[in-house]
This record gives sequence, structure tokens and C-alpha cells, in this order.
Amino acid sequence: MEKLIVRGGNRLIGTVKTSGAKNAVLPIIAASILGETPSHLDEIPKLEDVRTICGVLKYLGVKIDDSKEHELTLDTSRISAYEAPYELVRTMRASFVVLGPLLARKGHARISQPGGCAIGSRPIDLHLKGFEALGAKISQDHGFVDAYAPNGLKGADIYLDFPSVGATENIMMAACLADGTTTLENPAEEPEIVDLANYLNQMGARVRGAGTDIIRIEGVKHMRGGEHTVIPDRIEAGTYMIATAMTHGDVIIENVLVEHQKPLLAKLREAGVLIEEDIDRIHVACPGELKGIHVKTLPYPGFPTDMQAQIMAMMTICNGRSSVMETVFENRFMHVVELNRMGANIVTSGARGALIEGPAHLTGCEVNATDLRAGAAMILAGLVAEGQTIIGNLHHIDRGYEDIVGKLQALGADIQRINVKE
Ligand code: EPU
Repeated sequence: MEKLIVRGGNRLIGTVKTSGAKNAVLPIIAASILGETPSHLDEIPKLEDVRTICGVLKYLGVKIDDSKEHELTLDTSRISAYEAPYELVRTMRASFVVLGPLLARKGHARISQPGGCAIGSRPIDLHLKGFEALGAKISQDHGFVDAYAPNGLKGADIYLDFPSVGATENIMMAACLADGTTTLENPAEEPEIVDLANYLNQMGARVRGAGTDIIRIEGVKHMRGGEHTVIPDRIEAGTYMIATAMTHGDVIIENVLVEHQKPLLAKLREAGVLIEEDIDRIHVACPGELKGIHVKTLPYPGFPTDMQAQIMAMMTICNGRSSVMETVFENRFMHVVELNRMGANIVTSGARGALIEGPAHLTGCEVNATDLRAGAAMILAGLVAEGQTIIGNLHHIDRGYEDIVGKLQALGADIQRINVKE
């Protein structure tokens, strides 16, 4: 079993480059199913989740060439299956995003129902309502969701009760090959939605309004493969910004789209962090003390839930009181127990609110990465804790951070990956 050993106390100094965005690349790979000719994708992060979605596509008959680093060529000219089995879907909920494009291309898709996960029950009702509105017959049996539309889908007006990222992506992809126009109201507005729409349009789709509160998709009869460079990962970049702030470091983060970072930058500035923005790089420094801040997670352009655990790790060492209100997920405080074991002073009220009194003197101990972002929070706490922090369950971190150990080491952190006997 592998573990991370972090010895706290080093300031982070230098330059780090952000990889392509995990949450953009997964639906983009799935969207390739819509194209009848090969697609070529660039800035593909080396992540476990990318390997998983490629596994699903291979199972469906897609030929994938991943021989070039950070690139993928997907030959989707022949899709031979319409079913994605449990073994492939269970390791990653996001596999469910193949349902929309598969249904549109084949007229039939059968995907194992994704289970809940550490951060909540995560239902799929909004995805299914959308497919039904497009005319698909949906049934659920033996743990599978079956979506059937042998005569094709029909454009429809769809209102999402909540701006779900996955439902917006799935419905948007399905609607690309529907007969007529689909209007999607109250969709997610995340940058990853815009990146997906840009790729779909490259493939011959007609998607307008992605990134606003209404998306219109005029169906087309056929789509071809596309060429696309995936946007930088705003959550990975944000994690390095917080690491810099916590260690009172001085770091330039390259390959960032500054406009995607606004909600985080506002909060970091409020906490006393110095930030200089350029078009595609951000300089972060923190010579002074960190002040307590108050954060409420919201759909984009609000503060991202995927940064909540990391900012809470920072709050533990801020001067004064901080607070977090998690409004997107019902159970995303798994890191609280672990941070408190390291000496933090966090009190939760229900599953959505937390008060953090700082600054705490963190001390290293054995902790677990309970999910991807909680794992990142453990690393951040370890970077400033006295002594040694040993982090287990690394598979969560490997799902979403490309070479986090190498990147932090290059900035001067004392962090190592080791093999331990079980
Ligand atoms: N929801 C429903 N019904 C649905 C779909 C969602 O009630 O049919 C609820 C969920 O239970 C949750 C909320 O809506 O409470 C938000 O879920 P959403 O569908 O927006 O999230 P997702 O598509 O499952 C993506 C990211 C997550 C990120 C969320 C929110 C990917 C692969 N995953 O998940 O990323 O937290 O959007 O921004 O894009 C991560 O990277 O660590 C991560 C969890």
C-alpha cells in the first residue's frame, strides 16, 4: 500500500504549471462518442479518472491511441456496444456522462446506476427527467438505467430544478443529435460546460449560450470528430494557490484562466494573500498573516464546492474566526474529523455549516484521504503541520491531481510517496 509522508515547515517557492481540467476532460472524452470520425484531444491530464473513462469507451468499441503524452486520439467510427457494466462505472460516478452521447448516437444506452459516494447520495433524477423530455423511454432494473429512443430524440424545453453540472452535460450532449431545438433553462454555468460546448460545436453541433442561464441546442443529423485543447484545471490551480498562502510562500502558477479563478481570488485577497493576475498566470505571495474569512459554496460563479476542503484547511491557521457553509453537497465535511485530529479547532453545525477558530497549531499524524478534495486538504495541512503527516487512501488523490508529489517537491515541499507493508 502506498502512503504520502509530508513534513511540514517549508515555504513553497517557484513556478508550477496546471494540468488540463479533470472535470472538463471527462465529459469531453464521452462527447467524442457523438462523432462519426476520429477526434484528437490535447492537454489531457494523467489521472486515474481519465483512464477509467477511456476504459468505458474502449468497452463500447472506441479505439483509443494514448501513446503521446497528454494527447488522445479516439476513433469513434464504430460504436459496437450500448452497455457500460458495473465494474467500470462503480469506480467513477462521472462514467454516467456517457449515457447522453451513447443514447443520441445508438438510440439505446444501458449504464450501470452509479452508487452514492462519500460526499452524498448524488441522485441522477435530473439527468433522467431531461432524457425523458427528449423522448427517451427510461427504465431501471437490475441496477442499470436503460434509455431507449430507437427513432431518435426530439428537441424539448427543459428546466433544471438545480443547475447540476452532470445533468447539464448529459442533456446537452443528447440534444445535439435530436430532431429540433432544445432549450435548457437553469443549467450549470461552470467553465467546464463552456469547454464541452466549444468541443461539441467543433464537432458540428449547434450549441449556443453555454455559460449563461439558458442554453439552446439546435439538433443536427450527423457530427464529426473534433480537435480540442482542454482548459486548465481551476481546482488544481486553486489548490496550489492555497498551498502557497498557507506556507507564506511565493509561487507563480502557469496555465490558468484567471476569469475562472475569480471566486477563489476574492476570498484569498480578503484573507490577506497578495495576488497579481496576468492573462494565463497568477503570482501568489503571502508575506503577512492570514485573516479569518467566510465562505459559502454555490454553483458557478459562486465559490466552488471542490475548493471547500482546501480553503477549510487554510482557515485552520488563519487568525480569528472563519466559517464555511456547504450548499452544493449534503455530506462534504469528511475532512473535518481529520483536520481536528491534526489540532484544528472546527465545530460543525449539521452537515452544512462549520465554524473554524484559528490560528491552530497543527501537528502531523496519520490521516486518511476520504475523498479527492479532502485528500488535498490533508496534504495542505501536512505542509504546515509540525512533524510528519502520513496520508493513506491515495487512490482518491490520484483520481484528480496529476503528479501532485512531483509538483510540490519542485516548489520545495518535503513530500514523498512511500510503499508500506499492509
Ligand atoms: N443532483 C441531484 N440530482 C441530479 C444531479 C445532481 O439532486 O440528477 C444534486 C447532487 O446530489 C448534488 C448537486 O446536485 O447535491 C450537485 O451535483 P452536480 O450534478 O452538479 O455534480 P456532478 O456533476 O455529479 C460535478 C463534478 C464534481 C463537482 C460538482 C459540483 C465532475 C466529474 N464532477 O459533479 O467534482 O463537485 O460537479 O461542482 O465534473 C471533484 O472534482 O472533486 C468533484 C466531486
